[in-house]
Amino acid sequence: MNEKNLIPVWDILVRIFHWSLVLAFTIAYLSEDEFEDLHVYAGYVVLGLICFRVVWGFIGSRYARFSNFIYSFAEIKAYLSSLLAKNPKHYLGHNPAGGVMIIALLLSLFAATLSGVKVYGVQGYGPLADNGFEISIISESQAHGDNKHDDEKSGTKKEESAEEEFWEEIHEFFSNFTLLLIFIHIAGVVVASRVHGENLVRAMITGKKENL
Ligand code: HEM
Ligand code: HEM
Repeated sequence: MNEKNLIPVWDILVRIFHWSLVLAFTIAYLSEDEFEDLHVYAGYVVLGLICFRVVWGFIGSRYARFSNFIYSFAEIKAYLSSLLAKNPKHYLGHNPAGGVMIIALLLSLFAATLSGVKVYGVQGYGPLADNGFEISIISESQAHGDNKHDDEKSGTKKEESAEEEFWEEIHEFFSNFTLLLIFIHIAGVVVASRVHGENLVRAMITGKKENL
């Protein structure tokens, strides 16, 4: 590869964002069962990274901006057909199909993390914790020595566990859906690297791409 043709494409923050996201997502996914504290912290890191990336999509460097990789439906279709014809147009930034995948990944990660914070909240922890309501019911029923309140209390508990189950299902769905997108994302990186004869993984490390 001719060193002179290398153009800086991915700024340092996009690269740090990407590899930190890979690490934090992997830790969150693997720690879900046995290490809840680690799971929650890694999940918060993912959420923080997504928020950063959304801001960076508006104010970041040229190729980091959403305006650089959100293409029209016609352009996405044209890119995919040219890919099937094994003669795809080369893009210095994200190609139109890559752009769709990035938006899908960011949205799915946002849904996975937000629903995780909600599950945690229903369990009585984190920023969405609703334990203030539980405390007021317990103290009221204790103050009155009233059976009706005990029934209400157990009713609330049942409702809460149904609520927890509901959010857990949503959380599990988006976590696994994100994993599916990641597999397609990695396959897309391999295919695009092959058809263009360039190393996209190295580009996400060094930040530089060749102007083919
Ligand atoms: C992208 C990041 C995340 C991934 C991939 C992920 C993945 C998962 C998965 C696969 C489960 C198991 C679901 C089930 O079997 O019902 C789970 C459970 C859970 N997650 Fe996450 N999660 C993420 C972020 C978060 C965040 C940000 C929080 C909270 C701040 C969180 C809190 C929880 C809680 C409380 C549970 C239930 C644990 C239990 O009581 O069994 N997660 N997560
Ligand atoms: C080890 C596995 C992975 C490899 C080799 C990889 C590789 C890459 C490459 C080469 C790009 C740039 C694509 C282009 O040139 O247009 C990219 C972008 C991206 N990848 Fe990955 N990726 C991996 C895992 C992940 C995971 C696990 C996630 C999500 C949790 C992810 C999310 C993203 C996002 C959001 C972008 C857009 C970067 C930006 O513009 O900010 N990747 N990835």
